[in-house]
Amino acid sequence: MQLRQKWIVITGASSGFGAAAAKAFGALGCHVILGARRVDRLESVAAEATSAGAASAQFHDLDVASTASVEAFAAWLKSVTTVVDVLINNAGGAHGLDAVATGKDADWEAMVQSNFLGLLRVTRALLPLIPKDAGAYILNLGSVAGHAAYEGAAVYCGVKAAERSITQSLRLELNGTGIRVGSLDPGLAETEFALVRFKGDSSRASNVYAGMTPLSAEDIAETMIWMVSRPAHVCIDEVIIKPTDQAAIHKVYRRTV
Ligand SMILES: NC(=O)c1ccc[n+]([C@@H]2O[C@H](COP(=O)([O-])OP(=O)(O)OC[C@H]3O[C@@H](n4cnc5c(N)ncnc54)[C@H](OP(=O)(O)O)[C@@H]3O)[C@@H](O)[C@H]2O)c1
Repeated sequence: MQLRQKWIVITGASSGFGAAAAKAFGALGCHVILGARRVDRLESVAAEATSAGAASAQFHDLDVASTASVEAFAAWLKSVTTVVDVLINNAGGAHGLDAVATGKDADWEAMVQSNFLGLLRVTRALLPLIPKDAGAYILNLGSVAGHAAYEGAAVYCGVKAAERSITQSLRLELNGTGIRVGSLDPGLAETEFALVRFKGDSSRASNVYAGMTPLSAEDIAETMIWMVSRPAHVCIDEVIIKPTDQAAIHKVYRRTV
């Protein structure tokens, strides 16, 4: 499907996958609409998307953890466009790596609010703008963590498993509308993800990728484009993408120097 002049909404566009997606869709001549809490970052990403060739690049403050913020974002969006061709529900991440026995309420709540409830809130608010029978796409960011649990990640794995269920329910609910719904589920990718998980501890964050070659944000943006640019009658339900060095969630090959 031709993406030029299509309207693409990306949540969590201030860094990582979302920022790379803004530039990649921009380079295809799309209109990109960006949301996140760090508006200064969104401003730079929008400028880069414009330089890359975006038909337009606009941004607005968005906290997916707040229904009022999501509604304000949707109201602003309606003043910018009457249509959303692609919604990329990307905002989210992990907070902490504690076992359940020592887990913190604030971390659990942040993960549930952004990855789980945020996905629902944004989808509910924007669905009225998504056209029927026009190859529109709702693309949700899941994770390999939604497929297999690991220690210290009960809640992150739980919310990403929930993302798969929400994606599947939505696909059933929207069957007959022509709106495609899919999940993109990456393994280890080097973004700000680990820095956020470890609360700014950069040496702990960089250890996550020690001795191995992770995916890049650009790898994920390229995959998003592949998914949504299939013909309108083709829905890519679910993509699992891992670095070659990561055979399974627990098995990562690390080179020693
Ligand atoms: N990197 C990986 O290894 C990996 C693997 C599998 C899945 N994922 C998933 O991919 C998605 C993107 O992660 P990333 O790797 O690109 O990490 P990242 O660089 O930390 O980006 C996360 C983005 O989400 C936004 N965000 C977080 N909470 C938000 C909230 N309450 N409201 C609005 N925006 C919010 C952040 O923006 P602000 O802080 O400015 O609001 C940021 O733009 C996440 O859903 C993550 O769980 C990542």
